[in-house]
Amino acid sequence: MTIREALRSAAERLQLHHVSNNRLTSELLIAHALSVSREYLYSHDDRILTGDELQKIEDLLYDRIGGVPLQYIVGRQEFWGRYFSVDPSVLIPRPETEYIVEVVLEKRDLQRSQTLLDVGTGSGCIGITLALEMPAAVLAADISEAAMRIARQNAINLGADVNFVCMDVMDAVRGHFDFIVSNPPYVRRDDITRLQREVREHEPHVALFSPEDELAIYRRLVSGAEQMLNPGGYLIMEVGLGMDEKVLALFGPGWEKLPTKADLQGIPRTVIARKNAG
Ligand SMILES: C[S@@+](CC[C@H](N)C(=O)[O-])C[C@H]1O[C@@H](n2cnc3c(N)ncnc32)[C@H](O)[C@@H]1O
Repeated sequence: MTIREALRSAAERLQLHHVSNNRLTSELLIAHALSVSREYLYSHDDRILTGDELQKIEDLLYDRIGGVPLQYIVGRQEFWGRYFSVDPSVLIPRPETEYIVEVVLEKRDLQRSQTLLDVGTGSGCIGITLALEMPAAVLAADISEAAMRIARQNAINLGADVNFVCMDVMDAVRGHFDFIVSNPPYVRRDDITRLQREVREHEPHVALFSPEDELAIYRRLVSGAEQMLNPGGYLIMEVGLGMDEKVLALFGPGWEKLPTKADLQGIPRTVIARKNAG
C-alpha cells in the first residue's frame, strides 16, 4: 500500500467512525507513525509502506477511533504558537486559556521584569509562554507530580527559565508576585456526563473536576493572592460556564474588579482583579 492509499483509507475509516476532521487527522496520524512531516506525505505519496509501518498506522487509528484524543496520540498541542508535549497526566491546553496570556501581556509593566506565579500549571503552557514572552521570574506549581514532570520537560524543550514546585494551590510558597494566574479545575462532578467522552475518559480528573465546593480553589487563590500579590498586582483566573459572578463575589474591598474577558463563544472566561495599590 502506498502513502496515498493509506491516507485515503485512514480518512474513510475515521469518517465511518464519526471522528472529526478525518482528513487532517489521518495526515497527522500517518505522519506521526512514520516520524515525518505532513508535507513529506504529499511529496512521497507513492512510497510503498512496510508491514511495520502499516501496523503502526493501524495501532494509532485504533486508538483514535477508540476515543483517545489526537493530542495524546501525537504527544503535543500548540499553545500561543509553540508546541507543548502532553500526555494523559496533563490537560490538553485549550485556546481559551490563551486569554490569560493575553491579559498578562496587556497589563505588564514594560519598564521592569515581573514576578509571576502560575497555579495548576499542568503542561506548563501559561507559565512557560509568559516566561518566553516577557522579562519575568516565573514560578509554576501543580499538585500533580506527573504533571510537573511534563511541565519541566516542556520548559527545557522550549528553553524557558521557569522554577517549579509541587504544592496544593499556593500553600508552600512565600513571596511576592506581580501576577498570579491560574486555570484551576472547575467542572462540577455532577456535570461529568456533559463532558465529551474523550475528555471524560482520557483527560486527568484532577485537572478537570473542582472539589465538592466548586469555589474552594478560587477562594484559596483569592486569599493567597491577598497575602502574596504586590500592591497593584493582578490575579487572573479562568472560570467555567456561569461562574464569573460567583468568583468575582469572592473579592473584598481591597480589590479593583476589571471586566471579565469572554471567549469566542461569548462565555465569560477570564476573571481579572487588581489588588489596590498601597
Ligand atoms: C484545568 S488544568 C490547567 C492546566 C494548565 N494550566 C492549562 O491551562 O492547560 C488544572 C491543573 O490544576 C492542577 N490542580 C488540581 N488541583 C490542584 C491543587 N489543589 N493545587 C494545585 N494544583 C492543582 C491539576 O493537576 C491541573 O494540572
